[in-house]
Amino acid sequence: MAGSKTLSFIKQFLKHPGQVGALTPSGKGLVNAMVKPIDFDKAREIVELGPGTGPVTRVLLKRMHPDARLNVVEINAEFCEQLREIGDKRLNVIHGDASKLSKLVPKADCVISGLPIVNFPKELTAAILDEIAKIAPMYIQFNYSTLAEKVLRKRFKKVTRKVVLLNVPPAVVYTVTV
Ligand SMILES: C[S@@+](CC[C@H](N)C(=O)[O-])C[C@H]1O[C@@H](n2cnc3c(N)ncnc32)[C@H](O)[C@@H]1O
Repeated sequence: MAGSKTLSFIKQFLKHPGQVGALTPSGKGLVNAMVKPIDFDKAREIVELGPGTGPVTRVLLKRMHPDARLNVVEINAEFCEQLREIGDKRLNVIHGDASKLSKLVPKADCVISGLPIVNFPKELTAAILDEIAKIAPMYIQFNYSTLAEKVLRKRFKKVTRKVVLLNVPPAVVYTVTV
């Protein structure tokens, strides 16, 4: 149920504010903007970092090819339990840390991330971006501020951005060519 997921998200935010980084799960408009750049006809290996209660995960599974696989990497054990309840055979829930990504998933067509990288120490963000670059040619990231934009532009070849006003709070979706 949407309400119970929001409640669970708020509880986890109160326990781990820096790690969860938002008071509620992403809304429909933001999720649609995040998945839009993905070519679902071609993508067979998709990775999601920081899926939380799974609003992006569910839409990815709806849009993905029947033979595609979705590996989600989530550091929070309670969120992992909820994600496993989705019960789709294409979904692999990994209870792990995105900064160890290449050891968890060696290759992907695309990485999509809800990680609150603006809250992370610089070194952790840099380590995560390096790990993404090792495994995928394309990376999508949302944030509630533009604070990480400079880091993304410095690290990657091409970065485009889309502001999503129809989300509370408004958000920015970056599409990155690694
Ligand atoms: C802003 S929430 C986004 C949740 C969900 N994607 C959404 O859009 O509603 C950030 C998520 O990243 C997870 N997270 C934070 N640090 C992480 C890390 N190092 N590795 C994996 N997941 C992490 C948090 O537990 C949380 O679920």
